[in-house]
Amino acid sequence: MTKSQLFRLSVALGSVFMILLIIVYWDNVGTAHLYLHTSLSRPFSPPMLPIVAHGEERTTLSDIDEFLDKFLNLSLAQNGQAITQTEQPPVQVSSRPISGSMEESVRGYDWSSHDIKGKPDQEKVQAERKHTLRQFCANSSFFFPRKERSFDDIPNRELDHLIVDDRHGVIYCYVPKVACTNWKRVMIVLSESLTDRGIPYKDPLTIPREHVHNSSSHLTFNKFWRRYGKFSRHLMKIKLKKYTTFLFVRDPFVRLISAFRSKFELENDEFYRRFAMPILKSYSHLTNVPTSVGEAFSVGMKPSFGEFIQYLLDPLTEKEKPFNEHWKQVYRLCHPCQIEYDFIGKLETLDEDAVQLLRLLGMDKQFQFPPSYRNRTANSWEEDWFARIPLAWRQQLYKLYEADFVLFGYSKPENLLKD
Ligand SMILES: *[C@@H]1O[C@H](CO)[C@@H](O)[C@H](O)[C@H]1NC(C)=O
Ligand SMILES: *[C@@H]1O[C@H](CO)[C@@H](O)[C@H](O)[C@H]1NC(C)=O
Ligand SMILES: *[C@@H]1O[C@H](CO)[C@@H](O)[C@H](O)[C@H]1NC(C)=O
Ligand SMILES: *[C@@H]1O[C@H](CO)[C@@H](O)[C@H](O)[C@H]1NC(C)=O
Repeated sequence: MTKSQLFRLSVALGSVFMILLIIVYWDNVGTAHLYLHTSLSRPFSPPMLPIVAHGEERTTLSDIDEFLDKFLNLSLAQNGQAITQTEQPPVQVSSRPISGSMEESVRGYDWSSHDIKGKPDQEKVQAERKHTLRQFCANSSFFFPRKERSFDDIPNRELDHLIVDDRHGVIYCYVPKVACTNWKRVMIVLSESLTDRGIPYKDPLTIPREHVHNSSSHLTFNKFWRRYGKFSRHLMKIKLKKYTTFLFVRDPFVRLISAFRSKFELENDEFYRRFAMPILKSYSHLTNVPTSVGEAFSVGMKPSFGEFIQYLLDPLTEKEKPFNEHWKQVYRLCHPCQIEYDFIGKLETLDEDAVQLLRLLGMDKQFQFPPSYRNRTANSWEEDWFARIPLAWRQQLYKLYEADFVLFGYSKPENLLKD
């Protein structure tokens, strides 16, 4: 072999080697690229840009579901760990009443001890409540307005009662007049959404009432929508499926009495101007209705319970504006046929239900549910309150709130609906 032949051979071999190197290297680059592409671009660009893998396959919605499922599962698991790791000593509920709120000071809290333990039949109670609800949602001969629509058909503004805590995976649908102040307080403590001089509140009862009801203290689904736009519906559905969802309900007629007592029997400037004045003008036939609540109360001018009911029954009321949340039906606030709740609490059994719910959420070690009101509107008052309400109005009122009675297993108040 001559020198030049040897040289040519080595050049040829070198080229082959280089080519092989390039092929191997290229393959690695290719896979690495593909790998990065599939594992990184998914989380950050889900539904807009369908990822093309192997030529034709496009990511479908179910992939995104799956991914988000896993993602949420992971973050929930981490949060769960975080809770058990920190193991804070239970917060002792302070035993001083909160000043400043007329509603709370008039009613007062019941500071007696609340060491009721969850009973073993609590799970059976929950199963029955959920069974009743599902049964009537599925029963096509039982009808109420907008029963048949799907979750996607619910306008975002009607999701404003669903408070979300992503840290622990909890969703609470609040119903005013059903211990909602205290459950909102619990949600604030959970999500650490409010701080007192930089430190998140740990004791639900130390949160001032005006902060509790300020909507900027809570992340609700309709805010979620404003933040995330059209993808939010998808996330909402996954959260509803993954998170622990709960609500608290109450006998619908007793809830109305409670709403009337707190909004019309106590001096409330906002409710006087927005509701009491129009009610007095329309149904009491008074000509000179005072324009301030102070003036009205000093002359003893308040709408009666009967006038309030007339206002509820008047078709013009809803024509102008949907019911205020204090008397809006629970089925319109919380969409119980569209959202499957994991826990249905009742005010009538608040103490037991609160113990069980906090245990379900894994929070029973962290704090106790705030004590209940001493002067709460009692179910036994119903007959007295309705004594002077004409039978026809009571029957119409029952029709108006029938879905809440039936879905949540409150028996029809026959004694009020018959002569
Ligand atoms: C979510 O986590 C649970 C247990 O924590 C597990 O059983 C389940 O398979 C997980 N789901 C997904 C989609 O990873
Ligand atoms: C209970 O509330 C009513 C107002 O609805 C009030 O007149 C009464 O004084 C309260 N009773 C107690 C014991 O606080
Ligand atoms: C369905 O609803 C109707 C009307 O309320 C009721 O009469 C009937 O018993 C219900 N059926 C079932 C299976 O619950
Ligand atoms: C609600 O809270 C926000 C921010 O903390 C505050 O700016 C706003 O004035 C509060 N609204 C009311 C009605 O207190």
